[in-house]
Amino acid sequence: MSHETLENLLNETRTFQPSDEFAAVANAQPFIYAQANKDRIAFWEEQAALLQWDRHWDTALDWQPPYAKWFVGGTLNASVNCLDRHVNEGRGERIAFHFEGEPGDTRTITYAQLLTDVKKAANALTELGVKTGDRVAIYMPMIPEAAIAMLACARIGAPHSVVFGGFSAEALLSRIQDADASLVITADGGFRKGSAFALKPAVDEALLGETNVKKVLVVKRTGQEVAWDSDRDIWWHDAIDRASDEHVAASFDSEHPLFILYTSGTTAKPKGIFHTTGGYLTQVAFTHRMVFDLKPETDVFWCTADVGWITGHSYVVYGPLINGATQVMYEGTPDTPHKGRIFEIVEKYGVTILYTAPTLILTWMKWGDEFPLAHNLSSLRLLGSVGEPINPEAWIWYNLIIGGGRCPIVDTWWQTETGAIMISPLPGVTATKPGSAMRPLPGISAKVVDERGNPVEKGHGGYLILDQPWPSMLRGIWGEPDRYKDNYWSKFDGIYFAGDGAKLDDDGAIWLLGRVDDVMNVSGHRISTTEVESALVSHEAVAEAAVVGAADAMTGQGIVAFVILRSGIAHAEGDELIQQLRNHVAKEIGAIAKPRQILVVAELPKTRSGKIMRRLLKDVAENRAVGDSTTLADPNIMKLISAGLRNSTPEE
Ligand code: WTA
Repeated sequence: MSHETLENLLNETRTFQPSDEFAAVANAQPFIYAQANKDRIAFWEEQAALLQWDRHWDTALDWQPPYAKWFVGGTLNASVNCLDRHVNEGRGERIAFHFEGEPGDTRTITYAQLLTDVKKAANALTELGVKTGDRVAIYMPMIPEAAIAMLACARIGAPHSVVFGGFSAEALLSRIQDADASLVITADGGFRKGSAFALKPAVDEALLGETNVKKVLVVKRTGQEVAWDSDRDIWWHDAIDRASDEHVAASFDSEHPLFILYTSGTTAKPKGIFHTTGGYLTQVAFTHRMVFDLKPETDVFWCTADVGWITGHSYVVYGPLINGATQVMYEGTPDTPHKGRIFEIVEKYGVTILYTAPTLILTWMKWGDEFPLAHNLSSLRLLGSVGEPINPEAWIWYNLIIGGGRCPIVDTWWQTETGAIMISPLPGVTATKPGSAMRPLPGISAKVVDERGNPVEKGHGGYLILDQPWPSMLRGIWGEPDRYKDNYWSKFDGIYFAGDGAKLDDDGAIWLLGRVDDVMNVSGHRISTTEVESALVSHEAVAEAAVVGAADAMTGQGIVAFVILRSGIAHAEGDELIQQLRNHVAKEIGAIAKPRQILVVAELPKTRSGKIMRRLLKDVAENRAVGDSTTLADPNIMKLISAGLRNSTPEE
């Protein structure tokens, strides 16, 4: 975080009060903080009681740091809470999803239809041999079947592991292996940027590796040609058509694993963050109702996240469906076929609550006001932001141009690990400041602490920590208990360290300052520097690589790589090689991890003990004067590298 940004934050004094009209009827009223403070556990029990349990819990919380169990002894079924309950209580005809495909095809899916589809899919999975506890990998475009697949897994107690459709075959394979999945659900492909992209070939390629995958279920979305292994591959429609639409859901323990979701950490190997059932559902439902002020009878909620990310899990699938929300689901990119597509969809379905990421807001700003202004966005009444710090200018633009100056903005801080929103304004209660996530939600304890773990004074910065367990917290890293402890619980004993820096302002509001570890945040996607370095070094031309995240006006951070080539590799007209390397990273990890810039260097800045000084590379990548380099083994190196970067041009 540069000094300039810090200064700007210090100067940000604007506040936005919720309107009296909004506040009067808001789901969350001011007393909720005091209520939660009085007895945090009892508060969460009240929230949990809003779910449908088959057996009530015996103990609300069993906390053996760093392992929490919530609602111990209780049993429930996630898909029953999302679907059956609404149908049984007479809400079956309510629309669950307005689906909009990128080519313009649409589907309207009611809760009753969704339940039928999920029952059939659950029966199909069982017929294919999936049992309670088996892991299922889901690799799909953003279509209703992705949600149906997740809910069908939940219904039979088979933890799902959704792998973002933009990840490569290699990335898919490592996740299938790590979770030891026995079945993959995918599609022939999906639509993006005006054409069909393929998914099935990546699955075929991944399954050349060693796995225990027995069957692959394939949704026909694009109709493109696919290779077919008739012993292994089954069309989704064939399996679903012949499945019965009767399915009585079993009840699972509150702590039964609901899903695994892989996310980047500080090493090359992604972490399988795993979440269980009762606590997770309690907090996603609570936060969705309170932070978004959901009025299920009248609101149309649209979270633009893909189900491949935690935001899609918590605020497209589980939270909104538990609350009986009507949602928009859109398959494609925001500029296809034109830059007003999102606004057109808001107008078409009368979206009232829009939840998106700063990177998209910045993109809209760049495209120009004429696109949102060409549409009637007056249905919107609340806006949300997630994934990275939103800068005050983008916040103000979002407020004025998208929200017409009338919509509260909730800037929500949370992580794959936290499962649900942790720090956010409550829209009818909190006077917001542009760029601040404000304060921990009721029932959540978050603090900013110094290096020793002591809370900082107002006006100071430090590390963001969570010092009390919360219902939707991760229950571990799949199969790696030591890594779980090391990663999250070792910096401060018995306290969860999120990896983010933060600052308290003079009023005690929290301002997020980005990651303090080696994890980059590119357009809201977490990518580890090590992961990209490993991908680069796996290319035959590369001997050594160092990767840093450099501040980027559009994407938060951009990936800048410094590579040393193997001896004998000519770098005469290097553009072709650079392009090859970028494509190689895309192949190894996915297009989201493509470096913005790759610079071939003769040496990397190292200390005498051989540690790469990434801090100096970051200075260079961010066009700053290089900081203290006196500990470098060879101080001249930085001059050469700086000169090299000035002569190189960023890609795309
Ligand atoms: C960042 C996404 C600032 C942060 C839900 C965190 C944010 C990481 C915000 C988690 C926000 C998320 N303000 N930074 N409102 N929301 N982040 O696991 O660095 O994909 O640690 O979860 O995104 O990313 P993840």
